[in-house]
Amino acid sequence: MTFDTIILGAGAAGMMCAAHCGGRVLVIDHAKAPGEKIRISGGGRCNFTNMYAGPDNFLSQNSHFCKSALARYTQWDFIDLVGRHKIAWHEKTLGQLFCDGSSKQIIQLLLSEMDRAGAELWLRTELKDLRKTDSGFMLDFDREGQRLSVTCTNLVLATGGKSIPKMGATGLAYDIARQFGLRLTDTRAALVPFTFSDGKFKDLSGVSLPVRLSNDRTSFDEALLFTHRGLSGPSVLQLSSYWREGEAIRVNMIPDLPLFDLLRDQRQAAGRKALTTELARHLPARLVDYLSQNIQMQGNLADQPDSALTKLTAALSNWELTPSGTEGYRTAEVTLGGIDTDDLSSKTMEAKDVPGLYAIGEAVDVTGWLGGYNFQWAWSSGHAAGTAI
Ligand code: FDA
Repeated sequence: MTFDTIILGAGAAGMMCAAHCGGRVLVIDHAKAPGEKIRISGGGRCNFTNMYAGPDNFLSQNSHFCKSALARYTQWDFIDLVGRHKIAWHEKTLGQLFCDGSSKQIIQLLLSEMDRAGAELWLRTELKDLRKTDSGFMLDFDREGQRLSVTCTNLVLATGGKSIPKMGATGLAYDIARQFGLRLTDTRAALVPFTFSDGKFKDLSGVSLPVRLSNDRTSFDEALLFTHRGLSGPSVLQLSSYWREGEAIRVNMIPDLPLFDLLRDQRQAAGRKALTTELARHLPARLVDYLSQNIQMQGNLADQPDSALTKLTAALSNWELTPSGTEGYRTAEVTLGGIDTDDLSSKTMEAKDVPGLYAIGEAVDVTGWLGGYNFQWAWSSGHAAGTAI
């Protein structure tokens, strides 16, 4: 059997690519359904893009690499496509766009675009062998127990990263990249909760508040959630992509609150009120209780001189913590790093030294922030390769 193009991986990037390829196209996946990560994304509503997506929202060893693909297939192009498929959507927060209905609508959109392009889809198919030929590639597949040999001119690596192995994530794209001499950057779990070894926040599990979370390189103003194992929530997932083992992080629990002024005014108006009672108007009561074990919060407001209020606000705006690690690939939304962009064309996603070999989506060393950016990269890079093929 001969195809012009074989795409390994029927995820977001692979299906988008198939919808734009010319010629005879085959998409293969070892899963029993396409787009499983799309299905579970955004709590079942798929945060399919971000209105503010731009190169600054992506991490890569080469920060320029993503620019071309993102500029040639933008969030507005995908929003148009969603509109053409009559899928209703809404902005949740910070430009994040979600389906009103179900993420399955996005999978259906991609399947019908693939259909329109005449692409074939083989599920429950495992790659057994891959060789280069003079005119392209020869692949051996096991398709539901049947051994099949297939040749193609173009081969697209779209099997994603290593996050959530339970859902079928494998390092296949990396292995094939290595086989053909492409370099890999270090990979690590990203958009992932932090863990703390000593059950530090067990009693706070479920408490959530808006914070400014930072390390020495960056900061994010979003919610933080205490869990049984440590810290999660959007600010934590975002910072995890910029965090390295052993580093401290800083939590500002009152990023937009003029707490010193508020407490001083209340000291005047209601001096007999307990400091902790007043603080619980601004922060979750369980958190105030927890913090009071380490930060001086005893007494009434009237007992607090300005110096004590200064000390307290300083402590609440700069709580330093050192995570023991992250939850790793088990729960990470994405893999940071991957196929080195130096070995790929930023216009076509084709390997510079292996004509006909392409890599797209999460397998490539381009990783988006939380908030629809990773799907936008899948759409843009899939489109770049598809239109080039
Ligand atoms: P993707 O992982 O989607 O697809 C890879 C495909 O390759 C899969 O179908 C897999 O089965 C297949 N495959 C893997 N190994 C194979 C092998 N050896 N043989 C054959 N097939 C193989 N992003 C975002 O922008 N908005 C969001 O709301 C979310 N939400 C979200 C929630 C959760 C829980 C996770 C884990 C991730 C997200 N993401 C997200 C991230 C987003 O899902 C991710 O970045 C994209 O799916 C990446 O698209 P790809 O097509 O590159 O890989």
